[in-house]
Amino acid sequence: MRRILLTSALPYANGDIHLGYLLEAVQTDIWARFQKSRGHECHYVCADDAHGTPVMLRAEAEGVSAEDLIARMRGEHLRDLSAFGIAFDHYGSTHSPENRELSAEMFRKLRAAGRIAEREIEQLFDPERGMFLPDRYVRGECPRCGAAGQFGDSCEKCGGVYAAAELKNPVSVFSGAAPVRRSSRHYFLRLAADGDFLREWVFENIADPGGGEKTIPRLQKEAANKLREWLSGELRDWDISRDAPYFGFRVPDCEEEKYLYVWLDAPVGYMASFMQLCARGGMSFEDFWGENSAAELYHFIGKDILYFHALFWPAMLKNSGRRLPTRVFAHGFLTVNGEKMSKSRGTFITARRYAESGLPADALRYYYAAKLGDGIDDIDLNLGDFVLKYNGDLVGKFVNIASRVSRFLLEDFGGELDGEAQSGEGFSAVVAPILALSDSLARDYESRRYHSAMRSVMRAADSINGYLDEKAPWVMRKDKTKRAQLHQTCSAALRGFHLLTAYLLPVTPQLADDAAKFLQCGPPQWAGLSPLPAGHRVGEYRHLLRRMQNENARALIQAEESCA
Ligand code: MSP
Ligand code: ZN
Repeated sequence: MRRILLTSALPYANGDIHLGYLLEAVQTDIWARFQKSRGHECHYVCADDAHGTPVMLRAEAEGVSAEDLIARMRGEHLRDLSAFGIAFDHYGSTHSPENRELSAEMFRKLRAAGRIAEREIEQLFDPERGMFLPDRYVRGECPRCGAAGQFGDSCEKCGGVYAAAELKNPVSVFSGAAPVRRSSRHYFLRLAADGDFLREWVFENIADPGGGEKTIPRLQKEAANKLREWLSGELRDWDISRDAPYFGFRVPDCEEEKYLYVWLDAPVGYMASFMQLCARGGMSFEDFWGENSAAELYHFIGKDILYFHALFWPAMLKNSGRRLPTRVFAHGFLTVNGEKMSKSRGTFITARRYAESGLPADALRYYYAAKLGDGIDDIDLNLGDFVLKYNGDLVGKFVNIASRVSRFLLEDFGGELDGEAQSGEGFSAVVAPILALSDSLARDYESRRYHSAMRSVMRAADSINGYLDEKAPWVMRKDKTKRAQLHQTCSAALRGFHLLTAYLLPVTPQLADDAAKFLQCGPPQWAGLSPLPAGHRVGEYRHLLRRMQNENARALIQAEESCA
């Protein structure tokens, strides 16, 4: 049995869960459910990322304390994610006592290892607000092309990247005041000292924990290419402290009021969340995070935060005597109808909006799975295609099997399956080929080629439907002498349906639950999966899914517009 810990990136506490974040949560959740179904020990943890300037400012704007804001947002995030069947084993918050402890410990260990540098830096300061200005809170003219109204880190016109202090005629976004330069002492993680270690770690091949014979790369090819660019130059020190006012943890052992930058304590939040789970679940924290841990650790992230997870985080872990991630899995960004999600176009679809529309969560999970591979390409949610896939695949192919044979089984055989669970014509024609899919499907799931897994499952559903077309049980039924044959045909199809339910369970847990109720068998697990036995009795059949109309999906966008 493998011991696996996996994480999704921690959503910021100042924003709502949207369909983009759900792409990540669904990708991770499918993997977690798959590993559990295969019988492995697997823990899926996440948390709200509660710290930082935007959270502080939003709380201020709402006239509430930051603590109240993050408590409310965490509740909303959990509600939204649960509505999509995201089954965390634990969902914490980076603003927790455990994270305070672990972050302080991390900082102290990094310092003891000589990895923390201190020096004075000059930054823009808003004299009216009395606060240093993060890059996104200064605007001015681009130092490269002169375009007006550009942020302090990069120019939207010419794409130039620069330091906020280089902007011409800068103003503070808060007060409109002209910022002044002021210096302050900051703490830096000395990344350059780990250049060799990182180059080795990032490009290393590892033994396949999934049991494959070949070694596999630690990072996806595209991710490694990005990292190659970053690693080819000199690695710059990383500023991990912020001045007051800030919502976060104080820098340990520092007399001045300085805070740890949110990106320092955020990944430590993975550890803290797991620590809380250990307190509940009886696992040993050190078994998973100790330097010589034999457990597997995976982070699912978007490609935008690769730098943090494949450079800063491994450097932090290594220099604080912790284990390193086994692998980091990056994914691309979700677009809607071919474009970046946008509030003004109404395509910034929140999880809440979707859930309230009454569309099934499994429809979105299935659509994502049908599109997700192991790469970092962006993924488009095309609403027309979404309706077609759901109606065509889940309703038209998969559920169709049960609805075609359940009535005959119930009316003519009291819901009882025939005696040929492991042999006979139906077994060889339908059941055996589906059993035989198990290994290749499991490999697809394991390597996150969900699109390929979904294609195989739907091909198998097609073949059962083809078998039914050919046997035509509705014709057999009219002929009393064909009773045994009718029983055999319907039983084989239903046994196939049951096996496919197990294969789909990681993707469509609600549908699998409902199917299991009808099958009277409990959600079918992959480990030890076998055909429903002779004489097994299924229950009353009620429609498992309803067809979706185009209007239902289109309403996702209109509804958003109407409240903009
Ligand atoms: N709080 C940090 C992560 C800290 S992890 C120690 C953060 N938060 S986020 O809310 O901005 O993003 C969370 C995750 O959602 C990231 O992995 C990000 O890539 C992902 N996504 C955000 N928008 C997305 C899409 N439109 N599409 C797919 N994933 C997206 O970054
Ligand atoms: Zn410019």
